[in-house]
Amino acid sequence: MYDHITFEITELIAGIRADALAALTARERARFAAGRPRSRELAEAARAVLLDGVPMHWMLDWGTPFPLFLEAARGAGFTDVDGHHYADFCLGDTGAMFGHSPEPVAAAIRARADRGLTAMLPTADAIAVGRLLQEAFGLPYWQVATTASDANRFALRVARAVTGRPRILVFNGCYHGAVDETFVRLRDGRAVHRPGLLGQAADLTTLARVVEFNDLDALEAALRDGDVAAVITEPALTNIGIVLPEPGFHAGLRALTRRYGTLLLIDETHTISTGYGGYTRTHGLEPDLFVLGKPIAGGLPAAVWGCSAEVATRLRAVRASVDGGHSGMGTTLSANAFTLAAMRANLEAVMTPAAYARMLPLATRLADGIAGVIRARGLPWFITRLGARAEFGFLPTPPRNGTEAAHASIHALEHALHLYLLNRGVLITPFHNMTLVCPDTRSEDVERLVATLGTCLDELLAGGGA
Ligand SMILES: Cc1ncc(COP(=O)(O)O)c(C=O)c1O
Repeated sequence: MYDHITFEITELIAGIRADALAALTARERARFAAGRPRSRELAEAARAVLLDGVPMHWMLDWGTPFPLFLEAARGAGFTDVDGHHYADFCLGDTGAMFGHSPEPVAAAIRARADRGLTAMLPTADAIAVGRLLQEAFGLPYWQVATTASDANRFALRVARAVTGRPRILVFNGCYHGAVDETFVRLRDGRAVHRPGLLGQAADLTTLARVVEFNDLDALEAALRDGDVAAVITEPALTNIGIVLPEPGFHAGLRALTRRYGTLLLIDETHTISTGYGGYTRTHGLEPDLFVLGKPIAGGLPAAVWGCSAEVATRLRAVRASVDGGHSGMGTTLSANAFTLAAMRANLEAVMTPAAYARMLPLATRLADGIAGVIRARGLPWFITRLGARAEFGFLPTPPRNGTEAAHASIHALEHALHLYLLNRGVLITPFHNMTLVCPDTRSEDVERLVATLGTCLDELLAGGGA
């Protein structure tokens, strides 16, 4: 009876038609490939010598048909091997948050380059670095590691050593680098391994508890047994999209950790975007242990961890009670002369209050611009800003915890937007639509990003060429 009627069922993905998304993605992938013959050539050559054709497997996660090969980067932009120039809002996912090759860091590297790179001996730069870290973050004692993953691993080891407790606690949706104990998630109220882990030997759920961010009752229940050495957290979650702390959360977190004798490890590796001295200084947090990696040496592999005077005293006491041997902390190239020279220059002349004074208003304009683009098209999406960092996600309101945040991310849509912008000379991070501004970002770049995103959404809403 209804033969003559055809029903068209079109799936909507966060307000965008699935067929429009597929059409736009196919068109943009073709455009990317056609315009980048040299990147394609290098990608083919790389497949013969590098596992899966890249030196580090994340470089395949960009949603492009083949990797984009970098030629040169400076300040807020970079050029690919085919000669295209890009305004860079990804900035090495925070590693280049103060711009590519900032001149004071580049000069320090040049000055150090032929005076010895690594000798397992301290240089005078180390003292200057320690003083600058004290000044910026308030903690009295510092150590240098090669990556934030390492620094977190070492700081957690310190926490277990001084408390004599086995477990740690993380918030659902966290990421702290390649740190075994933190690879847990909350599912149906229980800790489970994070999906995708390879080669896992130990049951991490015996080492880590996991609760939702912003849930102080669950936190207290998890600390009450007195077996948790440390809570490790970013001040706001950023690795599952941004989840901001609710009013009173940090005060509650600090009070509960003190009440149950658990140390508080604040990982500022991404939230350093908040302002000078990171979220910790801006909001007066009082961590026992502190970690910062990525941009700390202007883009060279480096990280630091710091501790309170009390933790330092307890650590010395524990050390005195063991008979030497390897502490399980430290790597040979950490704190070498080359890194310390770059870190000093970065802390003295690049990562300064003046740099933030330039970045924060620009990031506000960027976030307001994107909010306007989303609002004008009536899409059920939110945007959140954390200082120089802004991200938009595919929910009507910002998420309150890791579980909600996981629903705000839709890879197919993220990849399409990322690819469209990339093809028009604007790079944003290919996951949870992360954008960062650096001191060199120009207001024209911000306007271009906002306008290009608007055009992309108009094309998607018009069918994406489907
Ligand atoms: C909050 C946080 N901590 C630590 C890390 C690990 O940094 P790396 O990969 O440089 O070791 C990351 C990486 O994204 C991070 O976001």
